[in-house]
Amino acid sequence: MTDHSFLTNVRHAYDTIAEAYVEYVRDEMASQPFERAMLAVFAETVRGPVLEVGCGTGRITEHLHQLGMDVSGVDLSPEMLGIARRTYPHLKFELGSMTDLDLPAAGFGGIVAWYSLFYLPPALHHTVLSTFHRAIVPGGRLMLAFHAGDDNAIHHDQLGGYDVDLDSYRLDPERLSERLVAAGFVVHAKLVREPVPDREKAPQGYILARKPA
Ligand SMILES: C[S@@+](CC[C@H](N)C(=O)[O-])C[C@H]1O[C@@H](n2cnc3c(N)ncnc32)[C@H](O)[C@@H]1O
Repeated sequence: MTDHSFLTNVRHAYDTIAEAYVEYVRDEMASQPFERAMLAVFAETVRGPVLEVGCGTGRITEHLHQLGMDVSGVDLSPEMLGIARRTYPHLKFELGSMTDLDLPAAGFGGIVAWYSLFYLPPALHHTVLSTFHRAIVPGGRLMLAFHAGDDNAIHHDQLGGYDVDLDSYRLDPERLSERLVAAGFVVHAKLVREPVPDREKAPQGYILARKPA
């Protein structure tokens, strides 16, 4: 059985940096045409309710809402969620971990995990992707954003100028695609873009997957 104690470190790190995170991503969406493009395709192809897993302070949830989606969010960090609820009171946000979600079968047209799956040890991907697969309607979509690499773990003892103690994983788009297929998805689109100089340390990956109809 995989040890889930890493979740305590992730929660603690995001509780600590929550206020700073808002500032860090304030202009992110406006300056990222590829991200807007992938989310636009997701929004155009999804019918029905959408869940953002690892929604943090809610900027992507709100972006999807602005695109006309019926969207809610779930996150591990109470502090991140507090900001999301305060900033976007018209949206619903719940506390929870993607490793332990009790989602209705075929309850969602789509799920988004935008820069959140990469805190999971890859050994847990299959279980979590299978949970997502069960929760998505046939023909629905799963959208992932992540730092790309070769599944190597990166240890962080500083994040946004704060002391933290957590690991993230730079995910290999090919291996992640294989795991998506193993969980029952078809890979619909895959994008890797170069890092933004002086801001990002790795290429960034985006995968749009489809649950077969
Ligand atoms: C880099 S932030 C991304 C937040 C948001 N998606 C965005 O793009 O602004 C990562 C978020 O994932 C959340 N997270 C990490 N592991 C999680 C898990 N197992 N379940 C739910 N949320 C998780 C963290 O608490 C944090 O809010």
